[in-house]
Amino acid sequence: MILEDRIQADVSTWRERVNRLTKEHGDFVISNVTVSQIFSGIRGVPIQVSDISYVDPEKGIRYRGYTINEILSLLPKLPDTNYPLVGGVYHLLMGNELPTMEKALAIENEWKNRSEVPDYVFRIIDSFPENASTMAMYSAAILSMSSDSKFSKGYHDSLRKEDYWKAMLDDSLDLTARSPQIAAYIYNKKYRNNEQIGPNKSLDYAANFAHMIGKGDDPLYADLMRLFILLHADHENANVSAHTAHLVGSALSDIYLSCSAGLNGLAGPLHGLANQECFNWLLDLYNTYQGVPTKQQVTEYIQKTLDEGKVIPGYGHAVLRCIDPRFEAERQFAEKYFPDDEYFRTAMVVFETAPDMLKATGKVKNPWPNVDALNGTLQYHFGVTQSDYYTVLFGLSRMLGFTCHIVWARALGKPIERPKALTTRLLESMIAEEKKQEATK
Ligand SMILES: CC(C)(COP(=O)(O)OP(=O)(O)OC[C@H]1O[C@@H](n2cnc3c(N)ncnc32)[C@H](O)[C@@H]1OP(=O)(O)O)[C@@H](O)C(=O)NCCC(=O)NCCS
Repeated sequence: MILEDRIQADVSTWRERVNRLTKEHGDFVISNVTVSQIFSGIRGVPIQVSDISYVDPEKGIRYRGYTINEILSLLPKLPDTNYPLVGGVYHLLMGNELPTMEKALAIENEWKNRSEVPDYVFRIIDSFPENASTMAMYSAAILSMSSDSKFSKGYHDSLRKEDYWKAMLDDSLDLTARSPQIAAYIYNKKYRNNEQIGPNKSLDYAANFAHMIGKGDDPLYADLMRLFILLHADHENANVSAHTAHLVGSALSDIYLSCSAGLNGLAGPLHGLANQECFNWLLDLYNTYQGVPTKQQVTEYIQKTLDEGKVIPGYGHAVLRCIDPRFEAERQFAEKYFPDDEYFRTAMVVFETAPDMLKATGKVKNPWPNVDALNGTLQYHFGVTQSDYYTVLFGLSRMLGFTCHIVWARALGKPIERPKALTTRLLESMIAEEKKQEATK
């Protein structure tokens, strides 16, 4: 299988690099941890090595070293489409190589062959109450497939440790192949009177998803989904969802248990849920002024949000210190295809206004827009107006990144994670001891 051969070709070199680092430089100090970092979400403390993707504060996300713009121009695209095949994105992330069209299509085909979703998954989704959140349904559906895990079976049938990653890769391909139909089933159940549309195997990953949620007659929406999945596929493995997926995976939990856990983290309002909050805020802004607001009106509205002690959704980032290139890519998409869309124009007035106002607060470290500032606007344009579904779209895409990190963690034999906790009393006495020693110097 194409990805297995690709990883197999590289894995011993990576293992040697990691072994050399730990054997020869295991005591090298990377950073010291401060009391305030411990009390503020271990902010900025290096806790992972992330070769699959890396958030460059000044340039944005890089996948295997490539910027978003490079990826958009270098990955293979189908004729008559403007955005790369998702199979190519997965090849780059998982296989650490820019694929040819043939290799990108090989992954697309692999997904088609593995795409059948077991019936019990749909029954589990059906058993949720009507008011259930789409993310709870999605996460439970992914979790339910744990019984199909080839890794778990192999683990209990004495699979060799150095081959764990092969079974994890096998499971990852099954999961990522099935996930679009599961996400589509949830959409149709909640928002299209349960009118389900089966997969069309002649279509690529993104176009097939578009088809299954009833958008098959608009080729531009398939292009948007190619772009959307590419932009959301990964963002380092130290954020809440990816780190959760990795942490659970480090206990040798299978891919379904690990990815479902990651999705639960993504469902939080400070993480993946922000994209729906962002669009609701924009919609409210538009409705308040009954149309595209002026810069003056947006200034008033932003001030009101800040005065209420709230954040401006879609602006700021824990790591980035520049305009998110994913925002730029989405802005270019809208500029090209629907520059006059009123919600897009509203978002652009916010873009002209918010950064200066956030700078003026004197405390916001990054006043620039992140990807959430436009996600909802683009989906809304195509009639995907149900903002509580936007995080599922994010999860569908991010499952690519989760699975790549977990497979490679297994390939490199990364052990179970077990950091150390301290008590408040211990911290106080450590500080007191240090002060005592300083006083006696
Ligand atoms: C993304 C986010 C959570 C990062 O938080 P962070 O790393 O703590 O950001 P900062 O270090 O710049 O925060 C410093 C201060 O600026 C504030 N701030 C940051 N972004 C802000 C925003 N968009 N609007 C208003 N205030 C903001 C913080 O609340 C904090 O205020 P405090 O000291 O009174 O608590 C934050 O920017 C935010 O809430 N943005 C809006 C929501 C969003 O877009 N989320 C999606 C992220 S991809």
